[in-house]
Amino acid sequence: MNIDQVQKVAVLGAGSMGHQISMLCALGGYETYLQDIDGKALDKAKSTLESRMNEWVKKNKITEDEKNTAFSRLQLTTDLETAVSEADLVIEAVVEKLDVKREIFSKLEKLAPKHAVLATNSSTIVNSKIADVTTRPEKVINMHFFFPPLVMDCVEIVKSDQTSDETAQVAMAFCERLDRTGVLLEKEIYGFIANRLLFALSNEAIYLYENGYADFKDIDLIAKKALSHPLGPFELADLSGIDVGYYANLQLYEETGDSKDKPARSIEEKVKQGNLGRKTGRGWYDYTKGAVMK
Ligand SMILES: NC(=O)c1ccc[n+]([C@@H]2O[C@H](COP(=O)([O-])OP(=O)(O)OC[C@H]3O[C@@H](n4cnc5c(N)ncnc54)[C@H](O)[C@@H]3O)[C@@H](O)[C@H]2O)c1
Repeated sequence: MNIDQVQKVAVLGAGSMGHQISMLCALGGYETYLQDIDGKALDKAKSTLESRMNEWVKKNKITEDEKNTAFSRLQLTTDLETAVSEADLVIEAVVEKLDVKREIFSKLEKLAPKHAVLATNSSTIVNSKIADVTTRPEKVINMHFFFPPLVMDCVEIVKSDQTSDETAQVAMAFCERLDRTGVLLEKEIYGFIANRLLFALSNEAIYLYENGYADFKDIDLIAKKALSHPLGPFELADLSGIDVGYYANLQLYEETGDSKDKPARSIEEKVKQGNLGRKTGRGWYDYTKGAVMK
């Protein structure tokens, strides 16, 4: 299989990541299905994308015609079979829970064409943890887009020791067609590269905050002023979703059993309170009274 044989794409999960990945695919010229078990998530995806693309037209990033053509390529469904039965590439972007992803891939084994590349957008889970529910691990790969995918250029492409070179080449070439920079990791490692660097930073930030060395706002301020980071670690957590980091940590802790990998107390509290960041209006910062980021 080569990149020219990829015509139809299915993106599973219409949350923060999936809806934007599906739009990228449609803008890149691919017949795309966006699937979610929750019809409301699809409705939200549609209205968010419409206003986002209207903004792009206003800013001359795309023409009205390009917008309309992209939307004509994008279809939304709650039915997995409809989404994947003719797909050449499936990108799974559902909630960061291993059991949910494994269940989906076992369904893909039955529903997706034999030749299809099956990718997961997981932030942390290596594809071999999922691929063993299929009989085609050579077709399974990580395609890790970054938030927000309509803006962020980088995609980590991660091979397991069973992923074929052909699958990796298709994934890399697909990124190029979407005008994204694919970066290939030859070997799996939990969290890949970017998130491992990020975890190290955010774990240290939480340690400093929970032990009273400085307020979280001041830790953010130092990251921005002293290290030239565009966002502080707490602002970034709010932007990408505190629950996303929480589940990623939980997954790591389940794997290693190492107490240093356990989600931090303050993060667990926020998840229990439903204060997940920008998407819920409150996280480390309060977004209900207007923007607070410096
Ligand atoms: N948010 C980020 O910054 C980010 C960045 C890179 C990668 N990721 C990864 O992308 C994936 C999705 O993250 P998100 O932030 O978009 O999550 P999200 O919570 O915003 O969205 C998840 C969506 O998956 C849907 N879903 C749940 N179970 C499903 C199923 N069985 N079939 C179809 N849809 C289902 C939910 O209804 C929801 O709409 C995760 O694996 C995450 O690790 C997230």
